[in-house]
Amino acid sequence: MEFTFYGHACFSVKIGNKSLLFDPFITPNELAKDIDISTIKADYILVSHGHEDHIADVRKIVNSTGAKLISNYEVVTWFAEKGISDSHPMNHGGSWNFDFGKVKYVNAVHSSTLPDGSPGGNPGGFVIESAEGNFYFAGDTALHMDMKLIPLQTNLDFAILPIGDNFTMGIDDAILAAEFVKVDKVIGVHYDTFGFIKIDSDAAIKAFNTNKVQLMLPAIGETIEL
Ligand code: NI
Ligand code: MN
Repeated sequence: MEFTFYGHACFSVKIGNKSLLFDPFITPNELAKDIDISTIKADYILVSHGHEDHIADVRKIVNSTGAKLISNYEVVTWFAEKGISDSHPMNHGGSWNFDFGKVKYVNAVHSSTLPDGSPGGNPGGFVIESAEGNFYFAGDTALHMDMKLIPLQTNLDFAILPIGDNFTMGIDDAILAAEFVKVDKVIGVHYDTFGFIKIDSDAAIKAFNTNKVQLMLPAIGETIEL
């Protein structure tokens, strides 16, 4: 699988010839100003919850790519009212087989109000199983015990976890999350974008290392093979 980071909690994963884009928030992100969103390929856009810093560029990228939107029922319905009809609604605990693999929408402990104040359902994360490997994107979340359910069913190759603290898990809790979901490779997201979530990257990598977990922090625009 090919992982490309687009800043904040936005990234794409290429599985076979399908590109999955997660939580697009690029044009409002000063740190991602060198990313030209018209060049981003997406067959699917997966949205973890309704907050602006996870949905800002959904419409633009749907328009440029024709991608299918996957999110919780409320987020999908809100976008349908705005003209995005090619979508797939889910809710917690549910799985669906797509042409790239299986998606399960799982719990996150957070909030999900949409930018206009509409209810965005409950926030979630995604477990993706595919012929090329399995991974977990936690979305925005606190550390929670339901993470321990994931490895009972899925052997993960890596996890994408928020590490910025204040609005989500910080580094210490993300290290425990890696233990809960049984991964030794983590890609950290949701850090450094705003003042509240600035971190010391070297200290974070060291802290994960001490706990025998590799923390990867790809640069914005960087692609890594996993
Ligand atoms: Ni959020
Ligand atoms: Mn967020």
